[in-house]
Amino acid sequence: MAIQTAYKNENIENADKKIVYDTKDLNLWYGEDQALKNINFPIYENEVTAIIGPSGCGKSTYIKTLNRMVELVPIVRISGEILYRGKNIFDKSYKEEELRTRVGMVFQKPNPFPKSIYDNIAYGPRIHGIRSKKVLDEIVEKSLRGAAIWDEVKDRLHENAYGLSGGQQQRICIARCLAIEPDVILMDEPTSALDPISTLKIEELVQELKKDFSIIIVTHNMQQAARISDRTAFFLSGEVIEYAKTDKMFSNPSDKRTEDYITGRFG
Ligand SMILES: Nc1ncnc2c1ncn2[C@@H]1O[C@H](COP(=O)(O)OP(=O)(O)O)[C@@H](O)[C@H]1O
Ligand SMILES: [Mg+2]
Repeated sequence: MAIQTAYKNENIENADKKIVYDTKDLNLWYGEDQALKNINFPIYENEVTAIIGPSGCGKSTYIKTLNRMVELVPIVRISGEILYRGKNIFDKSYKEEELRTRVGMVFQKPNPFPKSIYDNIAYGPRIHGIRSKKVLDEIVEKSLRGAAIWDEVKDRLHENAYGLSGGQQQRICIARCLAIEPDVILMDEPTSALDPISTLKIEELVQELKKDFSIIIVTHNMQQAARISDRTAFFLSGEVIEYAKTDKMFSNPSDKRTEDYITGRFG
């Protein structure tokens, strides 16, 4: 019940904000096991939305539902709707290419291709038919600058991306997303494999990127959610227990379970 009220209040308070994704009555099962239960909340444009909650609560499942990647698991069954820019992504007539070109994803473990830094970034644009070296050069530079790694790699663009540190590889993966000029960037615990300095760099980068993109970030690090997000959804056992502005959730949570979680009483 709490979430219903929170959701209505949010709608009134944010009547002028554009909604990128709206999730309505979403349920998801892996075979017999229900992993997402009646999820309802919006994601707003040019904000960072954090998804928090203990291990196994459905954070990765939810974020992979937003780009339909979760449907690669054969036993998955879904009910409800996810509207992306007003269109239900589960509609038979929905064109999946739209999600692939508009929604980028960054994973927990940096996963550059075993190719040069340049070819990692040029990969998506080439798939979209861009052949001109001049145009590709421009995209590569712009994307690497956007991911705050240009200065570190500009003299070694033709070296293998595997030679970079983990934190640099993760920024290469972000640059690879930027190269397709996405609308939304999904990040699933993008710093959990990184050292504190690389983590800080990614956090600063996320703050920069939200000016141009909408970002949804899964994190099990509550300080990180509090530092970098505008809104937070707290998941527990497949349900959204609370969804609110991050300041509100961390200073004055509405639900006892949220309070217990953010004060470190479990998870
Ligand atoms: N491919 C899968 N097949 C079956 N069950 C899965 C699969 N992926 C995740 N699950 C189950 O779904 C639940 C949520 O998992 P997940 O979304 O990975 O949680 P989180 O990212 O919050 O740790 C867990 O119970 C997990 O075991
Ligand atoms: Mg996960």
